[in-house]
Amino acid sequence: MEFALAALFELFESLDQCAPGSRAATLQALQACEGLAPGARIVDFGCGPGPATVALAQAGYAVTAVDRHGPFIETVRRRAAAAGVGDRVTAIVGDMRAPDFADGAFDAVWSEGAAYSVGVPAALAAWRRLLAPAGWLVLSELCWREGARSAEAAAFWQREYPDMGDVTQLEARCAAAGYAVRGGFWLPADAWAAYYGPLEAAVPAVRARHPQAEAQAALDDIGREIALWRRFGGEFGYRFVVAQRG
Ligand SMILES: C[S@@+](CC[C@H](N)C(=O)[O-])C[C@H]1O[C@@H](n2cnc3c(N)ncnc32)[C@H](O)[C@@H]1O
Repeated sequence: MEFALAALFELFESLDQCAPGSRAATLQALQACEGLAPGARIVDFGCGPGPATVALAQAGYAVTAVDRHGPFIETVRRRAAAAGVGDRVTAIVGDMRAPDFADGAFDAVWSEGAAYSVGVPAALAAWRRLLAPAGWLVLSELCWREGARSAEAAAFWQREYPDMGDVTQLEARCAAAGYAVRGGFWLPADAWAAYYGPLEAAVPAVRARHPQAEAQAALDDIGREIALWRRFGGEFGYRFVVAQRG
């Protein structure tokens, strides 16, 4: 476990994004948040190295970036400063499952490819009180698309993410947690390639530095995930949900 984690941290710390996503998709979701004007307060949970944080700050928002992994928070601060928006970003180490903010502290809660880490229902429940009345929730989450599922993809995701559902289930979870769904869209394929391309390219160097069997197995898993996406990526996708505190 220890060897695998060391390899995975080194791998992911070398990336600009740790999930499928793109600046264009972040801005598309932002556009769907009617009335959320520049200057509004947004919290980005599970910010990772901060791709969404920086895009939102560049769009003029005051962004609080939260991640439990300290090196990512350092990266977010460095990237925000380099982008000239350091004064609009507050990056802190914290647990998004038990966020330490006042009720109504934010006009929007944002989370790209991260809510699954604590479980979507738990995340939705923990975040609602942080929103001002009619505040916005934006999250992206891995979902099954409509249509047939191959045995390979079903078995892979059953093992890796057994709680993976479809869009109907995701939207129902939002509604059950007290959010009104206003819109949604699928992340396009180029936003997956933007993640998997650099990830795949970074694996060989990390593999060479972490020869332990456990680390190699963890890196093999990443290769399997990318190969699965290449063959069966039409069966699943990342769904953005745009909702409002009800
Ligand atoms: C798949 S990454 C996505 C990161 C980022 N949103 C992006 O698009 O690059 C998930 C992130 O959630 C963070 N995370 C997982 N559990 C967390 C928790 N309980 N509190 C805060 N961050 C957490 C991880 O450290 C990781 O950075």
